[in-house]
Amino acid sequence: MIYRLIDSSYVKIFHFKLDDKIRVKLKEITKPIHDHLNCVDKVIKSHLSSDIPVINQISTYILNSGGKKMRPIFHLLLAGLDGKITKSNHDVAAIIEFIHTATLLHDDVVDQSTKRRNIQTANAVFGNSASILVGDFLYSRSFQMMVKIDDMSVMKVLADATNKISEGEVLQLINSHNPQINETQYFEVIDFKTAKLFEACGKIAAILNKKNSNQIELYSQIGKHFGIIFQLADDILDYSGNSNEIGKNIGDDLREGKVTLPLILTIKMSNSKDREILNTAIKTGDINYLPSIVSLIQKNGAIDEIKEIANEHLDKIEALLDGDHDKVFQESLFNLAKFSLFRSI
Ligand code: IPE
Ligand code: IPE
Ligand code: MG
Ligand code: MG
Repeated sequence: MIYRLIDSSYVKIFHFKLDDKIRVKLKEITKPIHDHLNCVDKVIKSHLSSDIPVINQISTYILNSGGKKMRPIFHLLLAGLDGKITKSNHDVAAIIEFIHTATLLHDDVVDQSTKRRNIQTANAVFGNSASILVGDFLYSRSFQMMVKIDDMSVMKVLADATNKISEGEVLQLINSHNPQINETQYFEVIDFKTAKLFEACGKIAAILNKKNSNQIELYSQIGKHFGIIFQLADDILDYSGNSNEIGKNIGDDLREGKVTLPLILTIKMSNSKDREILNTAIKTGDINYLPSIVSLIQKNGAIDEIKEIANEHLDKIEALLDGDHDKVFQESLFNLAKFSLFRSI
């Protein structure tokens, strides 16, 4: 299948709404930037158009499907630490959401995922080729928007981050189906594929607010810890979440032979018989192993251990935020980091 066009009403029918409880929680955390988030949405909508109808359809399908918008939120809250959020921040937030969305379109093809945000993935609806090409469209659209900002240091941060994300995804591909992958290799992958974009959110917030290099580094570090927490939680949810809540299929990581921290820690803590089961499951990616893998993860307490690791990153964020910052934004940022760790979505 090269691509499959669908009736445009399909997008409306399946529009995914975040669970009420979560929406309320996120709304509370994002109260100080409520109006700014509406501005970001407007920037996103106004940059989606193309003369090619399929591009409009697929990009609208994914961008309207109810993502949490964590990166725009994170960028705006960091910008607000100094009390200054401007039109450039809205543009940057939209650019980063475009980059994130492009990575998701590609990631779902690579991971052969069929469900995201509680609807079918774009690749499941429109086919792999169309998803990849529209991912490319969103990447290149984000470059066009970057050029308009006309700030070489902002462009450099975004170009480097985008490059690292793809390195992270390739590294993960090389590591797949290999039970020997260790914690260091895992953290390298998540640093690249996820944390780098949050680091970029932080760096650019500092750059646009004309901060010095130490402060740019500090905001970058907050982003790094935030990104690590975010991916640790995502990897936990793939084994312990509820598919309807997270909006994705449980067990996709195992099926893809992705060696994430729940598996690495469980292998380390298991006896040789259990380790054999884990090794075979990783090598084959046989989803029939999922129930036994989940119970081994639970039996060995890997999830609690990962939450402890994530908590250490949370502490680091708290320490880094302990400066001369706007207290309301400081609190919101910390609550967003906590939400990212304890989220069920
Ligand atoms: C999913 O990101 C990809 C990861 C880095 C784990 P999000 O969980 O932010 O995805 P949406 O945009 O809210 O759906
Ligand atoms: C996604 O990691 C990271 C990027 C998209 C770069 P995952 O593969 O774990 O994300 P999900 O679980 O599909 O959202
Ligand atoms: Mg994936
Ligand atoms: Mg995942």
